[in-house]
Amino acid sequence: MRAASAALVAFCVIAGGAVQAQEPVGAAIFKTCQPCHSLDPAQAGMAGPHLAKLGGRVLGSAEGFDYSPAFRAAKARGLAWDRERLLSYLADPDAVVPGGWMSLPAGVSAADRAAVTDYLLGK
Ligand code: HEC
Repeated sequence: MRAASAALVAFCVIAGGAVQAQEPVGAAIFKTCQPCHSLDPAQAGMAGPHLAKLGGRVLGSAEGFDYSPAFRAAKARGLAWDRERLLSYLADPDAVVPGGWMSLPAGVSAADRAAVTDYLLGK
């Protein structure tokens, strides 16, 4: 019995390590965003704008996406995405773009937000 549970623990450690090696945590978290967002600028017709090259990108500036008035106002102000702004937006979209249309996926922790932020900003 003891040998069996030791073997199980060893298996889990190996399996967990393999998953991490294949995929950064931020990429895994991004799967919760993918029903609405793509990283491919050519992929049109999704519920949300593409998120390619987000670092330094002006808010509301993905070509061809029909943003809310709130995002159009943010764009007119020339606000751009950086780490701090993206972390705040993912914690509470209304705190950064009041009245925008995005609703956050459930169950995304602070650590998840940091990981997906680094992933989207190319870190
Ligand atoms: C249910 C659909 C949905 C999900 C899930 C979703 N979003 Fe969004 N997101 C939107 C919509 C719609 C907008 C545009 C909001 C507007 O126009 O007010 C948006 C806008 C954004 C923007 C602004 C982009 C720009 O062009 O300025 C970022 C950044 C963003 N989302 C990140 C994320 C991340 C990261 C996740 C996953 C943790 C996520 N979103 C999950 C629908 C979604």
